[in-house]
Amino acid sequence: MKIQNLHAYHKHITDTYDERSGNHENSEWHRTTALRLIEDLPPRIGDSVLDIATGTGTIAFHTASLVGPSGNVVGVDLSKGMINEANKKLAASDTHNLEFILADAERLEFPTNRFDRIYCASAFFCFLNPLTTLRHWYDLLKPGGGLGFHAIPETSYFWVSVARSVLEHYGHLYLLNKPTGTIEKCRQLLMEAGFKDIEIREEKSGYYVALNEAKKTWLKKEDFAPGQYPHPVSDVPPRILSQCQQDYEARIEALNTDVGVWNDITMYYISAFK
Ligand SMILES: C[S@@+](CC[C@H](N)C(=O)[O-])C[C@H]1O[C@@H](n2cnc3c(N)ncnc32)[C@H](O)[C@@H]1O
Repeated sequence: MKIQNLHAYHKHITDTYDERSGNHENSEWHRTTALRLIEDLPPRIGDSVLDIATGTGTIAFHTASLVGPSGNVVGVDLSKGMINEANKKLAASDTHNLEFILADAERLEFPTNRFDRIYCASAFFCFLNPLTTLRHWYDLLKPGGGLGFHAIPETSYFWVSVARSVLEHYGHLYLLNKPTGTIEKCRQLLMEAGFKDIEIREEKSGYYVALNEAKKTWLKKEDFAPGQYPHPVSDVPPRILSQCQQDYEARIEALNTDVGVWNDITMYYISAFK
């Protein structure tokens, strides 16, 4: 599958994740978060599985062992770095029902009704057109097939929620996690895309960040901003941008406690059927 005319936004994605690809395997958080998604909607023996934004293939390898030799798994990702790492693992393994393909999750070239299960762990926030993407994935599922993915509430990650509130105050949009920002919004998107039997489980967690570190998290033009293009601060005049940064730091200070600033990383675990 060839990717032509990569959008400038995709260049941000590939630059970011190519750079992270060598270390992605070391992230225990990503691994356990991805595997918990499968617990909610396990594949069956013989199933045909698509792991979207597979990274280094955590879900792909795990489901390849669950579906057995009569099943098959495809992992897709836009980052060459991630696909290379996944392929290295594949070459070193004894797995024969799995392949990795470089492809854009929003424009996949599989036949309709191809998969029994589609998974997408920790990546839905990257997509520019959530509803169109869900409709596209719906087409790829067989009737009765299941989709499992993560979404992030709009209140998660203080550097997103506080920055959004500051930017909105000055009339600028920061869309990250907004389309899937509440359980109701997720349900609505899935229903509009045609899905049924929708289950959304909220898993709460978080950790404290030291104030001096927290204050450094203001969104800069050169930072990767998933899910929005052009970049959310690209058209903010420099004077307003510097005011936004001051407001942001003041809000972060106001959130500080004896043990630092709470970073909520609550996630939604979503399953739905065609
Ligand atoms: C945080 S990583 C998660 C990887 C893996 N699912 C996991 O849980 O370990 C996000 C992944 O999404 C991929 N990604 C982002 N946008 C994509 C797109 N439009 N098409 C395919 N992959 C994409 C990135 O390249 C990256 O590998």
